[in-house]
Amino acid sequence: MSDGRNLGTTRSGTSRTRTQARTVNLRDLPIRRDDRVLLRAWQIDDLPAITEAARDPYIPLITSIPPDCSPAEGSFWLHRQWNQAAEGRGLPLAIVDQAVGEAVGMVTLNSIDWTHRRAAVGYWLLPRHRGRGLVTSAVRLVVELARDLDLLRVEALVEVDNQESQAVCRATGFNEEGTLHSYLRIGEHNRDMIMFARVLPES
Ligand SMILES: CC(C)(COP(=O)(O)OP(=O)(O)OC[C@H]1O[C@@H](n2cnc3c(N)ncnc32)[C@H](O)[C@@H]1OP(=O)(O)O)[C@@H](O)C(=O)NCCC(=O)NCCS
Repeated sequence: MSDGRNLGTTRSGTSRTRTQARTVNLRDLPIRRDDRVLLRAWQIDDLPAITEAARDPYIPLITSIPPDCSPAEGSFWLHRQWNQAAEGRGLPLAIVDQAVGEAVGMVTLNSIDWTHRRAAVGYWLLPRHRGRGLVTSAVRLVVELARDLDLLRVEALVEVDNQESQAVCRATGFNEEGTLHSYLRIGEHNRDMIMFARVLPES
């Protein structure tokens, strides 16, 4: 597998400033894969996956994908993802199921803070592809990527009753740090969220 340390965008020991967030272009990172999934940048051909995700009752509540997303809105969403990566603010990646060769979900490093060297991970999968360990694979790969970018902490905020997502966090080595009460507005209510985190070794 290619190693992000060769990208020349980041280096251990480099002193980082907030302005670096605008200079780290994350669009051309090498593709990551294991035997189940491949992570790559979103492509315009992935639009059907976005419009399908928009029909899930939960995904539009926790992402910027509008419910009942039209192709035009989907295309606008894709452009926003590309801009986010080009500006080093986040790393939104399509999860491709190696068995079918199609984008079936998303894993993202967002809110990247280059000063404090931390990011948040987010993920979703199209309902018909769930329960086969694809997201667990994807989160493992994206944590490797975070480490290659010299990030030291990856966080995941999960609703207290989202058992599937909590299982993903536990399976990928995240520790439960506590519950943040009434922390995040999801739908019509502020929700209690569990803060999971994976602390990465400083190299
Ligand atoms: C959360 C989500 C990504 C998980 O996808 P998935 O395909 O089921 O993920 P995986 O198959 O990789 O892993 C699911 C884990 O949850 C476990 N699981 C599934 N349903 C469960 C339940 N009701 N209670 C407890 N654990 C459950 C599985 O056994 C598996 O754990 P294991 O690997 O230890 O066996 C998917 O349900 C989803 O897209 N949900 C909507 C969006 C979302 O909630 N995103 C996360 C926001 S924090």
